[in-house]
Amino acid sequence: MNPEKLREDFPILVNGLNGKPVIYFDNACVTLKPRQVIEAMNEYYENFPACHGRSSHKLGLKVTEEYEKSRKTVAEFIRAKKPAEIVFVRNTTEAINLVANSLELKKGDVVVTTDKEHNSNLVPWLFLEKRRGIKRRIVPWPEDGNLDDFTEAVKGATLVSIVHTSNLDGTSLPVKEIVKISHDAGALVLVDGAQSVPHKETDVRKLDVDFLAFSGHKMLGPSGIGCLYGRYELLERMEPFLVGGDTVDDTTYSSCRLSKPPEKFEAGLQNYAGAIGLAAAVKYLKRVGLERVEKHEKTLNRIITESLLQHEQISVIGPEDPDKRGGIFSFTIKGIHPHDISAFLDEENIFIRSGAHCVHSWFNSRGIEGSARASFYLYNTKEEAEKFIEAVEKIMKIFG
Ligand code: ALA
Repeated sequence: MNPEKLREDFPILVNGLNGKPVIYFDNACVTLKPRQVIEAMNEYYENFPACHGRSSHKLGLKVTEEYEKSRKTVAEFIRAKKPAEIVFVRNTTEAINLVANSLELKKGDVVVTTDKEHNSNLVPWLFLEKRRGIKRRIVPWPEDGNLDDFTEAVKGATLVSIVHTSNLDGTSLPVKEIVKISHDAGALVLVDGAQSVPHKETDVRKLDVDFLAFSGHKMLGPSGIGCLYGRYELLERMEPFLVGGDTVDDTTYSSCRLSKPPEKFEAGLQNYAGAIGLAAAVKYLKRVGLERVEKHEKTLNRIITESLLQHEQISVIGPEDPDKRGGIFSFTIKGIHPHDISAFLDEENIFIRSGAHCVHSWFNSRGIEGSARASFYLYNTKEEAEKFIEAVEKIMKIFG
C-alpha cells in the first residue's frame, strides 16, 4: 500500500487549507472522500437524477439498476447471502433504531450491551426501557478477554447489542465468540460495526451475526447513507418502523400489503447518490485491501504510542499496546484540557476530535471529562505521525 499515491485521490490532501497541508486524524468521526466517490455521486446528479423502483422511463430504470448494483456491492463486501439482506438507511444510528423499533420488544424482554457503547447503542434502549418496559443489562468490557460476564448476562436475554470496535479507544470485542454464547442462550445479536467495517474484513456469515449496522461516512463514502444488514428470515418477520411510499405493494383506504425486505424498510425516496457513492467507496477499499489498511493504521499508531507514552503526563485510554487499539490513539495530558489540545493542533491544521466522543456514559461513570482522540486511515503517513508527535510535545512545553 502506498499512502502517498492514495493521497492524490483526496482533494483536500492535495489542496491543503489556508496555504498549509492538512493532517486529517479525525477518521473515526468522518473520513475524507476520494474523487472516485465524488464522481460517482455527481454522475447520478448529472446524468440520471431520478427515482428508483417507480418510474419506468429510461432515467428511472437507470437509477433502479445503479441503486440495486450498489446494494449488491455492499452485500458482497460484508459477505451477506443476498443483496436483499442490505437495507439502506441514513447511518448506524438509524440502523440500530430500526432494529430497536421493529423487533417489537415487550415489557420484561432483556437487552444486553457493554459499558462502552456509543450513544447510538445506548439511547434507543433507554427509550425502550421507558416506553415499553424492557430490561437492560450492561456488561463490563472484557479487557482481559474473559467472557464469563457475557455468559451470565445473556441468560434469558432477547437481544445482545454490542459495538464491534470501540470509537473511544479502538479496542475490539471477540464478536464471534460472543455471538456463539448469545445464540446458545437463545438471544439475537446486533453488532454496531461503525468502527470495524471500514477497517477490517467483515464476514457476517463467519461472525454469524443477526444484524450489523454501519455508516458510509466512516469508510470513504458520503454522509447520510448507512446500512443495516439483517438475516433475511428476520427481516421478513419484522414490521417496518418507518412506513409510507415504497414500503407497500398495494393499499386500499383501510389496508396495505407490505413489500418484501429490503423495500419494506426503505420508506420514501432514498439517498440514491449516497448509495452509489458508498458502492464506489467499497470498491476503492477492496482495491486497496482492508488487511493492508488495518496493518498501516497499526504502524502509525505504534509510532505515535511509542513516542508519546514516554512522557509521563500522557496517558492513553485503553491498552498501551497499539495493536489492540487499531487506528485509534485516544489520550489525555495531565493538566491540559482535551479541547485545548485539539484547538492548538487545529492551528497547525492537524485535525483530531476532543470530548466524550458520544460515549458520555463511560466518561461520566469514571469522572473523566473527556479525551483527545487521533484516528488514522489509509491516506495518513508516517511523516504526519511525526508531525503530530512534535505538535503534541510543543503543547506540553507551552502549557506545561
Ligand atoms: N461516532 C463518531 C465519533 O466517534 C461520531 O467521532
